[in-house]
Amino acid sequence: MFRKYGWVIAVFIVAMFAWGAFSAEQASGADANEYVGDNEKKCGMCHKEQVAAWKKWPMAKTWDTLQASKDKKDSCIPCHVTGFGKPGGFVSIEKTPKLVNVQCEACHGPAKDHLAAPLNDVEKKRNTMTKPTEANCKTCHNKDSPHYKEFKYADAVKALADHKPKPKK
Ligand code: HEC
Ligand code: HEC
Ligand code: HEC
Ligand code: HEC
Repeated sequence: MFRKYGWVIAVFIVAMFAWGAFSAEQASGADANEYVGDNEKKCGMCHKEQVAAWKKWPMAKTWDTLQASKDKKDSCIPCHVTGFGKPGGFVSIEKTPKLVNVQCEACHGPAKDHLAAPLNDVEKKRNTMTKPTEANCKTCHNKDSPHYKEFKYADAVKALADHKPKPKK
């Protein structure tokens, strides 16, 4: 009996596995990635040097800078916070206080999947965060900013070099 129908059973089992993996993929949702905020705490345990460097940047204080301005209004907010209007991103100071300032995720993308990736899966850790591009910076560094200064990508990235990890020996 098994000899005769064994292959049918085998195909069935393989198909069930494939379907199971597919459903798991669906459930986790390819685009379910979200901003998490509170990056100093959530990234600091593994990226201590990056957090230390970032804390010295003006971009780590853009919320306070905005609050101190007599010209502040709602339309200023998107460029002075993280993930404005995106899934898990900044909504309002009351609802999402952990997303103030230009945090890591403003440049490297939402980090929910990155945090969920197992620590021993370095490939997945790498693939769940993005390297910033010029276009990404220019969503904020553009002429809609009332304080716009000419934005030269190469120079601006150099100014952030203090947070790039040192090459491993
Ligand atoms: C549990 C440890 C851990 C935490 C927490 C963590 N990361 Fe990572 N991260 C890693 C590891 C491991 C890598 C891969 C390191 C490597 O490439 O050598 C990585 C890589 C990265 C990279 C580089 C991706 C690339 O292009 O190569 C970025 C950017 C990054 N993490 C940002 C973040 C941010 C932002 C947070 C907080 C929201 C965070 N990480 C939290 C462990 C962590
Ligand atoms: C204003 C944008 C910006 C912010 C905010 C920012 N980064 Fe970066 N990050 C960059 C740029 C630009 C690079 C260089 C990418 C390259 O070399 O192509 C980089 C590189 C990195 C790398 C190295 C990736 C690689 O190539 O191996 C890590 C890790 C990283 N950042 C983590 C963080 C963490 C953690 C935070 C928050 C504490 C953070 N970054 C905040 C822009 C930013
Ligand atoms: C979410 C908006 C946003 C993004 C994305 C962003 N920035 Fe900024 N950046 C700001 C704001 C706001 C300031 C002003 C900080 C202050 O003075 O309070 C700033 C300041 C800076 C400064 C400090 C110099 C200055 O004029 O104050 C550098 C350098 C810089 N950004 C580089 C970058 C680079 C490079 C990227 C992309 C990899 C980037 N930024 C992406 C909003 C952003
Ligand atoms: C399109 C994105 C954007 C908008 C909208 C925006 N800002 Fe900014 N803001 C920036 C960036 C980027 C910088 C860094 C300077 C630059 O443009 O290079 C900055 C810098 C600042 C600074 C620091 C002063 C300086 O010379 O660097 C203050 C204060 C400020 N913004 C207040 C405001 C106020 C008030 C509004 C609303 C009326 C506003 N911003 C709207 C992106 C924006």
